Amino acid sequence: MADFVGAVDQGTTSTRFMIFDHDGNEVARHQLEHTQYLPRPGWVEHDPTEIWERTNVVIQTAVRNAGITAADLAAIGITNQRETTVVWDPRNGRPYGNAIVWQDTRTDSIAKKLERDGHGDLIRQRAGLPPATYFSGGKIKWMLENVDGLREAAEQGHAIFGNTDAWVLWNLTGGPKGGGIHATDVTNASRTMLMDLETLDWDDELLGIFGIPRSMMPKINPSSHPEAFGKTRPSRPTTTEVPICGVLGDQQAATVGQVCFAPGEAKNTYGTGNFLLLNTGTEAVRSEHGLITTVAYKFGDAPAVYALEGSIAVTGSAVQWLRDQLHIIKAAPESERLAKTVDSSDGIYFVPAFSGLFAPYWRSDARGAIVGLARFHNDGHLARATLESMCYQSRDVVEAMEQDSGVHLDVLKVDGGVTANDLCMQTQADILGVPVSRPVVAETTALGAAYAAGLAVGFWRDTDELREHWHESKRWQPEWSDEQRATGYTGWKKAVDRTLDWVD
Ligand code: G3P
Repeated sequence: MADFVGAVDQGTTSTRFMIFDHDGNEVARHQLEHTQYLPRPGWVEHDPTEIWERTNVVIQTAVRNAGITAADLAAIGITNQRETTVVWDPRNGRPYGNAIVWQDTRTDSIAKKLERDGHGDLIRQRAGLPPATYFSGGKIKWMLENVDGLREAAEQGHAIFGNTDAWVLWNLTGGPKGGGIHATDVTNASRTMLMDLETLDWDDELLGIFGIPRSMMPKINPSSHPEAFGKTRPSRPTTTEVPICGVLGDQQAATVGQVCFAPGEAKNTYGTGNFLLLNTGTEAVRSEHGLITTVAYKFGDAPAVYALEGSIAVTGSAVQWLRDQLHIIKAAPESERLAKTVDSSDGIYFVPAFSGLFAPYWRSDARGAIVGLARFHNDGHLARATLESMCYQSRDVVEAMEQDSGVHLDVLKVDGGVTANDLCMQTQADILGVPVSRPVVAETTALGAAYAAGLAVGFWRDTDELREHWHESKRWQPEWSDEQRATGYTGWKKAVDRTLDWVD
């Protein structure tokens, strides 16, 4: 058996390939950013061809950095930014325009019409999701209605859909040269508004409501399977065939990487946005407090495991906004230094509702606001309020989760880039009133995809073995008094109220 497992992590801002050994330790990685196209307010696009080219380079480079060859990889897993929608021509691999990214709000009128036409409850019940711009179904519908000739092409079988997992998989397995496998996994499919959460298959009634031909849709596989996803072609980027045995949306992959395999275990990932997932076991729990129901993973023939998810659109990207739009920091990590120049945010709140508000509010009419400003406030206060906004938004979803599930979190497992920010993690513990714990391997997303792939080929025995790889690197204990916590949260709720009803 080969000694390593690799994972492609095709994220919102970059694509990376990571190689792990049998103990789950990182051996090598390579990562490349791709262009963010913002052609109009609310629109966010990626070039699928650029993403595929970057994927090629990061795989080749990471393998080289590890000093190994592709033959040393027992399997490859793929994880990806979810919901982002690619439609391409399977005859030549050409995309029908740029991918519409999960943050893009152009489908707002489609989402509102679904609700107005009385389809909201069916979508919530069957797919576990509220009609919202976030998910893929509305994005595919928008493309069918707005890209010249696309509907006819789709009806003739010349246009197929995928999230970026399916796009990368199709290209890795042969693409336009032939043999490209058009498939996805249950976790990605559960983000479309088109899959029935119980049958784990595309639902004809939902496809009909969106006007999407079934022939466009990829085959839905388990997240971990020895054969269903095929093998890489023995050319670019791997010199030999390597089986692709795991595919999961990035937040579900992080749930696996954090070994949240038992009902009641949860993790919070701090990336462009924040995504808190609570394992609810083999039961799909419907939320009454603004969370979504999603598939956490399905390993082979074992029953699917579900999660309640609190999706927050803007957290890390609010720090990028301080850097790119306000220019008050030069690099994201500087936000911690700047925030530390003051002792507190001194009564200001920043609600970064740039894409409306996702969980638990689901208000596309919200827009960002900074409230409570006095002349005394400076860039340090704003930096601090930005870090606090990630923590308050996380508290919003933790509250919803506790109400939905009755599970009280004893500790919050965290991962993602922002967890290197000590002040932010301390603030998270303070605002939540529970300890926050970060693992040694903070790259849990890629690790989770590697785990799914490795389990399928027997590289790892079972989930108990994976649990042994999880070690805590740091724990933050709450330091605020209950009164300070309550006062802070009341102010946050008032600030959120100010952002609602801002646009029609
Ligand atoms: O649902 C969107 C999410 O999958 C994006 O994650 O880490 O690429 O921002 P990330």
